[in-house]
Amino acid sequence: MRTQVGIIGAGPAGLLLSHLLYLQGIDSIIIESRTREEIEGTIRAGVLEQGTVDLMNQMGVGARLMKEGLFHEGIELRFNGIGHRINMHELTGGKHVTVYPQHEVIKDLVEARLKTGGQIHFHVGDVSLHDVDTASPKIRFRWDKEGDIQEIVCDYIAGCDGFHGPSRPAIPQSVRKEYQKIYPFGWLGILTEAPPSAPELIYANHDRGFALLSTRNPQVQRLYIQVDAADNIVNWSDDRIWTELHTRLESKDGFKLIEGPIFQKGIISMKSFVCDPMQYGRLFLAGDAAHIVPPTGAKGLNLAAADVQVLARGLEAFYKTGKTEMLERYTEVCLRRVWKAERFSWFMTTMLHRNHQHTPFEHRIQLAELDYVTSSRAASISLAENYVGLPMEF
Ligand code: FAD
Ligand code: DHB
Repeated sequence: MRTQVGIIGAGPAGLLLSHLLYLQGIDSIIIESRTREEIEGTIRAGVLEQGTVDLMNQMGVGARLMKEGLFHEGIELRFNGIGHRINMHELTGGKHVTVYPQHEVIKDLVEARLKTGGQIHFHVGDVSLHDVDTASPKIRFRWDKEGDIQEIVCDYIAGCDGFHGPSRPAIPQSVRKEYQKIYPFGWLGILTEAPPSAPELIYANHDRGFALLSTRNPQVQRLYIQVDAADNIVNWSDDRIWTELHTRLESKDGFKLIEGPIFQKGIISMKSFVCDPMQYGRLFLAGDAAHIVPPTGAKGLNLAAADVQVLARGLEAFYKTGKTEMLERYTEVCLRRVWKAERFSWFMTTMLHRNHQHTPFEHRIQLAELDYVTSSRAASISLAENYVGLPMEF
């Protein structure tokens, strides 16, 4: 097989990139290790920045998102039992975020790719990268996990295969510098069939740990609680989860958390991670393959969308003019934005979670930080402009 850009991974990064390239008349093939049903059914992110929504609309894949997405102009930060609204719309000059689940984004993108003749090969196995520092890099894989070995010869490879994929290790270790921070806690997330308990997201700092009230649609709500990094979901009965949520989200203004049947629950670990460079020869990493943020700032999917816009522009310039300057600057351009999102996600995580390694001094600093960001206009603007998403800089 031969294509211009071989894409490994059909997550948000790979699918967005493939469709952006298609719109510029550039060929790509996506290979994905999971089935279509699996990628369309995995519950992950929920909050899209304005820039991600604009991108979906410009690409012509935003119709359902505009119809079913929930537009939020503010968030609440709750601590010491009192809620403080950050009015993002007013503080950022009219911006908002959109709550629309990641797996719905995936469904819209898969459908758009297949409708326009795009090639996505699902459920492949034994994926490996070859000759990435030559003019004709190759991807090898097996059809249907155990079938025949295939080879795709490409001009470029986009490694969009998430944190555990084979693309990042294809950059020699001597070239890669990796930065990492592991947090001593994780998030237990649930989906419940219940009406919303509040009109906007609530991020709560509580002595027993962080809690987040989010939503999916008028019938389904998404909630998270901080748990120990090593905890196991079998330790969490539905009753225990609700008791913890009631305690941590309690407020002095009469807020009532509405319960419903829990139909999905799981625990995720939390880390910050950056790989520098994000490219080597003709291999380019995008999204979680290159960087991870803890989920508290809702930045992961949005960063993936930002990376692939930079990459698509570089590839477009190469195919139209033969010039590689933009591709050569890929890491530099992406990492400026990535590091700012890393900072914001670390800041939100540190400010909102109860860290048992912290001293009483550090705990009081945390509460002072919350008091500051909710009472100083300058600090509120800073939080709001990061939450709605910093501008793209090419
Ligand atoms: P992925 O989505 O991980 O996609 C990579 C794809 O590559 C996968 O489909 C995988 O199956 C495939 N793959 C892996 N290995 C191979 C291989 N060997 N061969 C072929 N294919 C392979 N982000 C936000 O922006 N907002 C949020 O509100 C938010 N909330 C989150 C909440 C939770 C609970 C979690 C877990 C994450 C959240 N995120 C959020 C982060 C977001 O989900 C990720 O950052 C996003 O999925 C990254 O997209 P990606 O395409 O880079 O990687
Ligand atoms: C959701 C996830 C986040 O990480 C966040 O900060 C807000 C909302 C969600 O899944 O709804």
